[in-house]
Amino acid sequence: MARHLITSALPYINGIKHLGNMVGSMLPADVYSRYMRQRGHDVLYICATDEHGTPAELAAKDAGQSVDAFCAEQHDAQKAIYDGFGLAFDHFGRSSSQQNVELTQHFARKLHENGFIEERAIRQVYSNADERFLPDRYIVGTCPHCGYDKARGDQCENCTRVLDPTDLIDARSAISGSSDLEVRETKHLFLLQSKLQGEVEKFIDEAGEEWPTLASSIARKWLTEGLHDRSITRDLDWGVPVPADVWPDLAAEGKVFYVWFDAPIEYIGSTKEWADAAPDGEVRDWKSWWYEADDVRYTEFMAKDNVPFHSVMFPATQLGTREPWKKVDFLKAFNWLNYYGGKFSTSQQRGIFTDAALELLPADYWRYFLIANAPESDDTSFTWELFSSSVNKDLADTLGNFVNRVLSFSRKRFGDEVPAGAEAGEAEAKLGEDIARLLAEYEGHMEALQFRKAAASLRALWSAGNSYLEEKAPWLEIKTDKDAAALTLRTAMNLIHLYSVISEPFIPSSAKAMRGAFDLADDTALWVTQDEAKALSSVPAGTSFTVPPVLFAKITEDDLAAYKDRFGGEE
Ligand code: MF3
Ligand code: ZN
Repeated sequence: MARHLITSALPYINGIKHLGNMVGSMLPADVYSRYMRQRGHDVLYICATDEHGTPAELAAKDAGQSVDAFCAEQHDAQKAIYDGFGLAFDHFGRSSSQQNVELTQHFARKLHENGFIEERAIRQVYSNADERFLPDRYIVGTCPHCGYDKARGDQCENCTRVLDPTDLIDARSAISGSSDLEVRETKHLFLLQSKLQGEVEKFIDEAGEEWPTLASSIARKWLTEGLHDRSITRDLDWGVPVPADVWPDLAAEGKVFYVWFDAPIEYIGSTKEWADAAPDGEVRDWKSWWYEADDVRYTEFMAKDNVPFHSVMFPATQLGTREPWKKVDFLKAFNWLNYYGGKFSTSQQRGIFTDAALELLPADYWRYFLIANAPESDDTSFTWELFSSSVNKDLADTLGNFVNRVLSFSRKRFGDEVPAGAEAGEAEAKLGEDIARLLAEYEGHMEALQFRKAAASLRALWSAGNSYLEEKAPWLEIKTDKDAAALTLRTAMNLIHLYSVISEPFIPSSAKAMRGAFDLADDTALWVTQDEAKALSSVPAGTSFTVPPVLFAKITEDDLAAYKDRFGGEE
């Protein structure tokens, strides 16, 4: 039993996330956390909202709210949705917390003491009308290369050329539209990442060895291009203030840290929030998870665009403190989930958002589909056709129908208790072997964080039950040999119990309903071993049971047409 620290990339505060965001970070982290807990490990699963930065400021402004009030409201809205999806965080914090402010300032102080932060003067565009410096992407104008009139100060969307804001013709503020702009000199803090190149390389050589190629190849690409010194402050009202004792001038000007500086530190901040929120009598030691935590294995989950920050930049920040902070051991990265081959898009409201998904169907349907089709080795696509066929085939037919069929038939013929009679024979021995082999496969994939493969093994385990039932045909056995039918049904009921355990990380509410059918002592943490005898004998004859309501309703042709109509299908 080891300690496992698990984090998923922090969702930005502004806006409800879509299913693509869900499958690329939080959902697989939850599945993995649940699995590791079941196996008896000490797990801490941490997440939070990523609240700082210009987009949050602007979204608050659009909503006519103070940024504080906006973030508090949005945090609760996201939290409610994640509860609905069954995400079992140990803590879901906020990067604007006091804990994170203190930790971020601590990191900056240490980096400064060790000579990794430098003040530099840069020239930046100031908007007189907005009374603020504008980040490059908040300056728009005409592209000098292609003439596109909505080019942004960092890049032209039309010809994809990288731009400098001063390249733009008729530049104006994207916030107010004002063209009363001027270039001013202003000071910022720079993190001297170039000095840490060698150490980060060494870190990636060791830790990255084990990572999936998607993660390690992105990390190596960044290292090959060389780590550049990076500005880590911004002129914004909303963010972690630069500590005045170290940088009085910058603090007086109201500079705050750049969102990507304080966001990963919130993994630690949120852990401290968790500890500070401990109920009376419970001791939670946040530091033991992060500081000199050699016995902890730390796994991070994220989409591929987040890999540079987590593999290279955050480790550089940690290394530069010269303090023994826990660094990532395993970085699990995901490709994109598309919607009918095109991008899910928050700005164009294309695809399915997490709130709408939950209004439509229970969380387990989404959880199962998303994990079974997780974009691990490549991008994958959501289509309503694929979604409804996997719900109908895998969940409704293979799993749900098995459960209801077995329990209702047994109740009808033998009453409310698991029937006794007949000793396990050849068919049961063969089933036991199949189950043991598939379980070993399933465990192997879970340990390797190969979610699609794990889902395929889970499906194979469900199918093994169906084959057994078809072969034994208790509805025929009952006519000639009641004992034989009892054995088949008892074995099938043990399979249901087994399924409730091994399916729990994927479909927790349905698993609970399946387990709840049996009147057994509560041992939710119980894991079935590969020991075939045990796997098929958790529910002894005489155990009372009830028949749960249908676990998964099928998606009909009419539903399918209605969903496609409402959300849009092929372009
Ligand atoms: N909010 C970022 C995104 O959605 C992820 C931040 S992860 C962090 O891309 F923890 F490092 F902050
Ligand atoms: Zn252009």
